[in-house]
Amino acid sequence: LGKDLVNLTECHSTNSFAASMIKSGQFSEGTVIVAEVQTKGRGQRNNSWHAAPGLNLTFSIIFKPNYLHVDQQFDLNMAMAFGVLEVLQNIHPKIQIKWPNDFLDVNGNKLGGMLIENTISGNLFDTSIVGIGINVNQMEFPVENAISLAGITGKTFDLEWLLEQLLVSIEKQYLLLKNGSHQSIKDSYMDHLFRMGVWASYDDGEPFIGKILGVGPYGHLSIMKQNGKIQSYDFKQIKFI
Ligand code: BTN
Repeated sequence: LGKDLVNLTECHSTNSFAASMIKSGQFSEGTVIVAEVQTKGRGQRNNSWHAAPGLNLTFSIIFKPNYLHVDQQFDLNMAMAFGVLEVLQNIHPKIQIKWPNDFLDVNGNKLGGMLIENTISGNLFDTSIVGIGINVNQMEFPVENAISLAGITGKTFDLEWLLEQLLVSIEKQYLLLKNGSHQSIKDSYMDHLFRMGVWASYDDGEPFIGKILGVGPYGHLSIMKQNGKIQSYDFKQIKFI
């Protein structure tokens, strides 16, 4: 990963930049696009992603996972999330993954997230853009419940060093996925999942107490309610409260 590295001082969004590279056919698998500043950084649920210029990591990786069936799409998500998590946990052991692909500190503050955008060809994946935003050295946030690695540890981090660590770790997980190690990737992901197996509050239209049991095909989150009923949710159907 990162043999082809596009370093941008500024762009709208590294994911959008990656998409235009794919469109023009000018990319190779493993191309990494890094931006110092994103003016239209995008998050999940059509949210925007804000990061103070020069203090954080915002980058995208282009993959061509054309060996993956569409119903295995969440396996890529899990491999990527765990690749990132391993590096974050080396820095601070209590960081966790919040389903589907956020990174949280022990108090539930958000440290980063991923936006994965795929193109499909028939029943198989064609390209996948994995966009990653990690709060690294930023100390003040305009929103609540956000934190950075510096905020957690009191240290500052070299962004190039951190990017290199992340790319090595992500590549390792990607190769495991390519070699078919789906179960071990899922196990790694589940072992580090925030609220796994504990009773907590959710909202699926109305608030309720539930317990995460696991993640099914397509990445649906399976939650048991207090009455013992098990329900499965996609990303839009459930909120953690
Ligand atoms: C989220 O938590 O909602 C996902 C945030 C993803 C942000 C990254 S920053 C690099 C890449 N480019 C984007 O526009 N978004 C992702």
